[in-house]
Amino acid sequence: MARTPAPGTVVLLVGPPAAGKSTLAARLVARGAVAAHAVLASDDARARIAGDEGDLRHDRRVFAAMRAALKALARAGETALIDATNLTPGTRAPWIRIARAAGRPVLAVRCDAPLEELARRNELRIRRVPRGLLARLCRTMALHGAAAALRAEGCDEVLDAEALG
Ligand SMILES: Nc1ncnc2c1ncn2[C@@H]1O[C@H](COP(=O)(O)OP(=O)(O)OP(=O)(O)O)[C@@H](O)[C@H]1O
Ligand SMILES: [Mg+2]
Repeated sequence: MARTPAPGTVVLLVGPPAAGKSTLAARLVARGAVAAHAVLASDDARARIAGDEGDLRHDRRVFAAMRAALKALARAGETALIDATNLTPGTRAPWIRIARAAGRPVLAVRCDAPLEELARRNELRIRRVPRGLLARLCRTMALHGAAAALRAEGCDEVLDAEALG
């Protein structure tokens, strides 16, 4: 049986491009584990704020808007999900801080696959990440995405995507 996060959980997806983060988010919404409006995806926020999900020039505003949305959801006790790469401690810290301030648990979900598999999926996409960047982000995941690191940063629980899928 796939697990469902406890109500009020902040679900933090962690993984390089094409690792299946948005696919998992959609599955959780489809089975009612997270409300559609409580999925905070950086690509969607970029599309709304910058007019293009691939335009990273307005990311300060994009992430500020996502933090404000998470604050509101966490205070209301709604399960929320952050769909962004979240590959470094610095990018994860604001979400963890907001969850903590609202007294909500953080569940980190590691989405990962070997570089060659990510590259294969990436090739099938319309918007492709350059191979060099994909390789670099894969290394960042290996360096900073381990379960022990996520726990040390304050995540209450860490699962691999398959456990939640
Ligand atoms: N477990 C899986 N096995 C095989 N293919 C998968 C799996 N999960 C997702 N995919 C496929 O990989 C591609 C990328 O998935 P998805 O868009 O969910 O990745 P992502 O992590 O959200 O990437 P990004 O960070 O670029 O938004 C899609 O074509 C999806 O169908
Ligand atoms: Mg995605």
